[in-house]
Amino acid sequence: MPKKSTSASGSRAALKAPPRTALKAPAARDFQAQVFAQYPVEVASASGVWLMNTRGERILDLYGGHAVAGLGYAHPGWTAALAEQAQLCQFQSNAVAMQIRAKAARRLVRFSRLPFGSVFFVNSGAEANENALKVALRMTGRAHVAAIEGGFHGRTAAAGAVTWGAQAKWYGFPRTPFDVSFIPRGASGAVAGHVTTDTAAVIVEPVQGLAGAVPLGAAFLAALRARCDEVGALLIFDEVQCGVGRTGEPFAANLYGVRPDMLTTAKSLGNGFPVAALLMNPMVSASLKAESLGTTFGGGPMACAAVNAVLAAIRDQRLLERVRRLGSYIRRTCIAGPVTAIQGEGLLVGLRTTRPARQIQAELLECGILTGTSSDPQVVRLLPPYILEEQHVDVLRDALKDLDP
Ligand SMILES: Cc1ncc(COP(=O)(O)O)c(C=O)c1O
Repeated sequence: MPKKSTSASGSRAALKAPPRTALKAPAARDFQAQVFAQYPVEVASASGVWLMNTRGERILDLYGGHAVAGLGYAHPGWTAALAEQAQLCQFQSNAVAMQIRAKAARRLVRFSRLPFGSVFFVNSGAEANENALKVALRMTGRAHVAAIEGGFHGRTAAAGAVTWGAQAKWYGFPRTPFDVSFIPRGASGAVAGHVTTDTAAVIVEPVQGLAGAVPLGAAFLAALRARCDEVGALLIFDEVQCGVGRTGEPFAANLYGVRPDMLTTAKSLGNGFPVAALLMNPMVSASLKAESLGTTFGGGPMACAAVNAVLAAIRDQRLLERVRRLGSYIRRTCIAGPVTAIQGEGLLVGLRTTRPARQIQAELLECGILTGTSSDPQVVRLLPPYILEEQHVDVLRDALKDLDP
């Protein structure tokens, strides 16, 4: 439990944490599938980095809607772009050309600073990975995929097949659609044994998110790249969580200087409007034929308006710089109370804790700060909006100092 309630003073009075009454569990959600463990908080509205609960009390959101709210809440440019597009034309499928879709694809490729040849827009991270794997299996005619221990890629048949631990926990399908093997994290020496001339693709999160913000590092990623080149396998970076600026670079591929053949991304890409993308290098792009991939909603004009607004805001508000600055501020100031070390990149942050992360998360929530956990029981995960300020980090630091070590 917290030693004492966090108190803001002086100029930080505006950032005062809400009283504990704010944190009562919301009423049971009749009719909603009971598949999610839920935080004891019910959100009514949000602005900037602050959530407002149904009692009108503020909560500092350092979890960012699970890495989605990169621009924060009620962002004026994003909100206006969606309102404008809703009035212009809310939907046409990919069978009908729209300038806004072409603009989003062009803009995303330019933002990536990587030599991609085309973009296929879909609706979720899992769907992007599903399509990337399908393309790789089809292109190579092979039936094996290598993934990394600790990785998470989504809950559909192919994405779940390459997710570490899914089979034992929730996979649910009688068999995987291809053979899978898992490379131990960071084990460059083990790569050749797992990636052979039978391997269609290697899929990897360059910074593992759900695992607790674990960077796999340039050397390991370069070893994957080199082995894929040797055996003719395709390298897929899953940047659903760590992409679109979260590491302080456009993508982790830029950060580590390793070029994948395909890159999937989602979450912050739409700032809450569902959109995901599969970016493909020119060789992969050239392998596509009419109807080899498809989607109804993917690349809809509302989704593309959201993508354009997000990428414009990242550029205009210089958010990559801010992510790098705030990421290092967190690392400098937040080893306090029960936090003994900090891992991750940019604003994908893992706080390593002396006590179970669930305990620390609950105690921080009592102080009016929302954080996440991870599959590592001693890592609290932070995925805050990119518009975070030092004063918000100070609120976290003060709260951590007040917790039992
Ligand atoms: C790295 C990574 N890949 C894929 C997914 C799946 O994305 P979605 O939930 O949008 O299907 C997630 C979701 O958390 C993720 O973190």
